[in-house]
Amino acid sequence: MPQTELPIVQSPMAGGATTPDLVAAVVDAGALGFVAAGYLTADQLRDQIASVRERTRAPFGANLFVPWPRKDTNVEGYAASITDDATRLGVELGTPRWDDDDWAAKLELLLADPLPVVSLTFGCPSDAIAALHRVGSAVAVTVTTADEARKAAAAGADALLLQGAEAGAHRGAWTPDAEPVPLATLLADVKTLTDLPLVAAGGLEDADAVREVLENGATYAQVGTALLRSPESGAQQAHKDALATPAETAITRTFTGRRARGIVNAFIREHEEQAIEAYPQVHHLTRPLRAAAAKAGDPDRMALWAGTGHASAQDAPAAVIVRSLTQ
Ligand SMILES: Cc1cc2nc3c(=O)[nH]c(=O)nc-3n(C[C@H](O)[C@H](O)[C@H](O)COP(=O)(O)O)c2cc1C
Repeated sequence: MPQTELPIVQSPMAGGATTPDLVAAVVDAGALGFVAAGYLTADQLRDQIASVRERTRAPFGANLFVPWPRKDTNVEGYAASITDDATRLGVELGTPRWDDDDWAAKLELLLADPLPVVSLTFGCPSDAIAALHRVGSAVAVTVTTADEARKAAAAGADALLLQGAEAGAHRGAWTPDAEPVPLATLLADVKTLTDLPLVAAGGLEDADAVREVLENGATYAQVGTALLRSPESGAQQAHKDALATPAETAITRTFTGRRARGIVNAFIREHEEQAIEAYPQVHHLTRPLRAAAAKAGDPDRMALWAGTGHASAQDAPAAVIVRSLTQ
């Protein structure tokens, strides 16, 4: 892992929240930043990396989604249950399809033009880790259970990103059945298993929370939600506004067919019961609906991804937030 002045890592946040401005601001402030390659094509990833390099000379990394094996789950029943929501927003549901998030092309790009560090989410392919090592990149692997941590260490990971149950957005678990584990438990369990650097993530919103994980064995604290309201974040305004208000969060499959934590809104309340495990089919199905809701500023039909500590997220420049987390 690249040496940084501050023990803070900026979460890669796919879907628009992580912008080149955000990555550049946090690395210039002395933290480690990641471009979020999830949902991007390889060409878009190339452009984002170039944009960050134009803004800073400090080291940064990129995060890739590891594809799960193809599974053609029938989503017709779930689609029928959410059709009215799309109609009300004046759009049609998207076409559900499986894809691998352009994994091979993005990996190839990072092998041809390496970054100091690459992080992997949703899995741990040892051949990709070996290939990234050959071009000089360190590899950090997202784990959500002690079992995943053990396997990631055996597969050659250079650091483990421990994602606690409190974390905002998608669970980085390698299989749908991995039960979310609170961060304090995960950290206590994993530190007895390995000497690898541990990056603790999930619900860390202030300096006290950061200090606690560092005192309990983490080398870095990773934050996502804490940065979402910064001017450099590309999160939608309605999302930023919702974060500022104390509200319950829950882990839901309603928006993408994969478990993710967000602020509880009408969409979650109305559809949680019918929601199914079918990623990325449901992600593609609800995409136009989520986009239309964001355009209309309708927080009840957007995915308001948030960690449990979202109400403490500050509307302040990313550099100020990053520094305040270590004071
Ligand atoms: C809006 C949003 C998008 C996210 N996207 C990604 C992603 O693309 N890749 C990833 O590994 N983690 C992603 N995460 C999860 C983070 O890596 C991390 O686990 C989480 O931000 C930590 O919890 P916190 O949000 O409470 O700080 C995302 C989190 C948020 C809030």
